[in-house]
Amino acid sequence: MTVPTVASPPSLTLPEMGCGTWAWGNQLLWGYDQSMDDALRQVFNHCLSHGVTLFDSGDSYGTGRLNGRSETLLGQFAHNYQGPHQESLCLATKLAAYPWRLTPSAVVKAGEASARRLQRPIDLVQMHWSTANYLPWQEAPFLDGLMDLVEQGQTRAIGLSNFGPKRLKLAHQRFQERGLTIATLQVQYSLLSTYPVTELGLKDLCDELGIRLIAYSPLALGLLTGKYAAQGPYPSGIRGLLFRQLLPKTQPLLDTVGAIAAHRQKTSAQVALNWCICKGTLPIPGAKTLAQAEQNIGALGWRLDSGEVEDLDRAAKQGQRQMVQNIFQSR
Ligand SMILES: NC(=O)c1ccc[n+]([C@@H]2O[C@H](COP(=O)([O-])OP(=O)(O)OC[C@H]3O[C@@H](n4cnc5c(N)ncnc54)[C@H](OP(=O)(O)O)[C@@H]3O)[C@@H](O)[C@H]2O)c1
Repeated sequence: MTVPTVASPPSLTLPEMGCGTWAWGNQLLWGYDQSMDDALRQVFNHCLSHGVTLFDSGDSYGTGRLNGRSETLLGQFAHNYQGPHQESLCLATKLAAYPWRLTPSAVVKAGEASARRLQRPIDLVQMHWSTANYLPWQEAPFLDGLMDLVEQGQTRAIGLSNFGPKRLKLAHQRFQERGLTIATLQVQYSLLSTYPVTELGLKDLCDELGIRLIAYSPLALGLLTGKYAAQGPYPSGIRGLLFRQLLPKTQPLLDTVGAIAAHRQKTSAQVALNWCICKGTLPIPGAKTLAQAEQNIGALGWRLDSGEVEDLDRAAKQGQRQMVQNIFQSR
């Protein structure tokens, strides 16, 4: 199939909140099976029709034979969608920095394969992770490949993910040399993962460089929804192991989130997402069911007041445990 290209890519308009699709195709961590596809289509339609126009995927999403499944599903759902906000749809994907993607042309090829699965040019193409921690010299040709994709009209904008301030500045400089910009940076940010902002100072740097900061795993893989308790039951697999360690130590934070939610007549998930928005970031919560998507969209249209944000900041700071940082997050 030939993917149509755009001659002069129109600029990107991003919403206040997006929808993450890591779980769409991932059996190992998220228990995906194909019987979920109809529910995922409902999630897509509901989000887009309510103005949640950004969907975040990755070419490594989908385990085993389902590799690329998240992009494939997004492509199908977008192709069949007939409701409002079609013109604002932003399909974002992340190209994995696999060790064999060493040249710009390998990255362009990967982008073309993603576009085929998405059935359209990629709106926002992102480098999935920084290779600074193990193969720093891979970054430059990878970034060049992303810039080639823009110049060839195959994507509208470029983003990065899991880059720290030092590597982000280097990348910014490289983009400037070609007269291009970095539109977004995606890092793990939530009440249980404040490190990228408080320790790395990425929000200030992004503001300075004109980059929109996207908060991934804003619900701490579901833990901040308050639906799991220290005494269990836990989700299956790796998440269960992680939550078993985290939950007893995060209860005071979860209690604060829950108390604010009760006072506001909101849910804990809505408070956790609203906090991300109040911090000037764009959260992309994952949703597997229509009910979750509906609830998450309830984080929009209102704002926590400054006192509530301070209470949450304090509770997050006093927490004895934070989420494990992505091993690829650079400094
Ligand atoms: N750049 C990167 O390296 C990177 C890394 C991770 C994620 N991401 C992106 O960020 C997106 C979001 O992060 P995430 O999916 O890791 O975690 P998340 O958004 O923190 O949590 C999502 C999970 O929480 C549960 N959930 C969501 N809304 C809920 C609600 N209202 N009530 C109850 N449970 C709810 C669902 O799982 P259950 O129903 O199973 O509990 C859902 O799959 C990903 O999908 C992906 O697009 C990027």
